[in-house]
Amino acid sequence: MITLITNIQELLQVRETSIAKVSGAEMAVLPTIKNAYLILKDELIEDFGSMENLPEIKADKIIDATGKVVLPSWCDSHTHIVYAGNREQEFVDRINGLSYEEIANRGGGILNSAKKLNESTEEEIYEQSKTRLEEVMRLGTGAVEIKSGYGLTVDSELKMLRVIKKLAENYPIAIKSTFLGAHAFPAHFKEDKKGYIDQIINEMLPEIAKNNLAEFVDVFCESGYFSVEETEQIMEAGIAFGLKPKIHVNQFNSIGGVLASVKFNALSVDHLEIMNPEDIEALKNSETMPVALPSCSYFLSIPYTPAREMIKAGLPLALASDFNPGSTPSGNMNFVVSTACIKMKMTPEEAINAATINGAYAMGLSETHGSITKGKKANLIITKPISSYYQIPYAFGSNLIESVFIEGKLIN
Ligand code: NIG
Ligand code: FE
Repeated sequence: MITLITNIQELLQVRETSIAKVSGAEMAVLPTIKNAYLILKDELIEDFGSMENLPEIKADKIIDATGKVVLPSWCDSHTHIVYAGNREQEFVDRINGLSYEEIANRGGGILNSAKKLNESTEEEIYEQSKTRLEEVMRLGTGAVEIKSGYGLTVDSELKMLRVIKKLAENYPIAIKSTFLGAHAFPAHFKEDKKGYIDQIINEMLPEIAKNNLAEFVDVFCESGYFSVEETEQIMEAGIAFGLKPKIHVNQFNSIGGVLASVKFNALSVDHLEIMNPEDIEALKNSETMPVALPSCSYFLSIPYTPAREMIKAGLPLALASDFNPGSTPSGNMNFVVSTACIKMKMTPEEAINAATINGAYAMGLSETHGSITKGKKANLIITKPISSYYQIPYAFGSNLIESVFIEGKLIN
């Protein structure tokens, strides 16, 4: 099946050859072709170029994109889309003055979601999660990472990971699975942290590896959650089972988790709202992608990741949604890109690079996703007619998406 898209006002993120990521000053450069064509063959990008050079081909379908912008679909490298119920009451409690930390200390927060998940069947969790996955696909996400971490028992963590696997089997979108057993200590392990860590290492990890249920291992490295030492222990065990670390760090405090993650060659470190000069230093010359989650900062009213400082230091940066019931009940990557521009002072070019190619890197997908490159997946967003791509972050509340292709399939 050949699809030809013609008269594209501007085709974004065009890379002749596949690149892994963009860093520092390169992030300000978004290569584009004005008045472009794009050819898709089945699930892959076949060809692209300027309309002047449009080859003669027999297409099964022709889409006229006059006035429209085409870009690679968003690569959302950090989500917790699989969960049960919601935390609307905590949302109202926070409006009335309680902090995220105070709610967690009362047994709410992650443990509240764990309780709901443990009371739900695998089918119920699948049904609720698939609605969210379908929503983000319509909003232009074409590759997504999903974490466990609301089970916190051997059975329930496996249950979550099976739901992620089933979503991956049933939808065309690339889904990467991350084991986040170390998301919080279950109440009955509050006084026996070692007991829970032993369970993660000796019971959960072997079972997950045996059944091929995750590619990455994550830890919530934070005061009151998992210490740097505990995080290192879990990273080490995960690596021994073939899982690469992707770590939650520096959301509320900088306690040394960035340096530890870099030491273990983590694929990404995520959140980074609180960054010390040493954290930035640790990331220089590393293979670890820093990932910012601006919708989380927005929803919790906490600081935004200091993107300007990090880019100035030569670092790459990825943007992801953190879609979860507690700190970010939204998976809208268009809003993430807007918020990064508005609140983190990223330019539209930087934000689009961060949400496409760098997002792909942060889930090990930059060879197949994140740019318009021959042979990469035919994952596209076609906008409605717009004045320029600046409108994508500028018109922050509007839905500018006309259609989405994922692996060559028209989603909406
Ligand atoms: O990335 N920070 C840790 N985990 C999630 C939130 C979890 C929750 O509140 O349910 C996050 O923000
Ligand atoms: Fe998260």
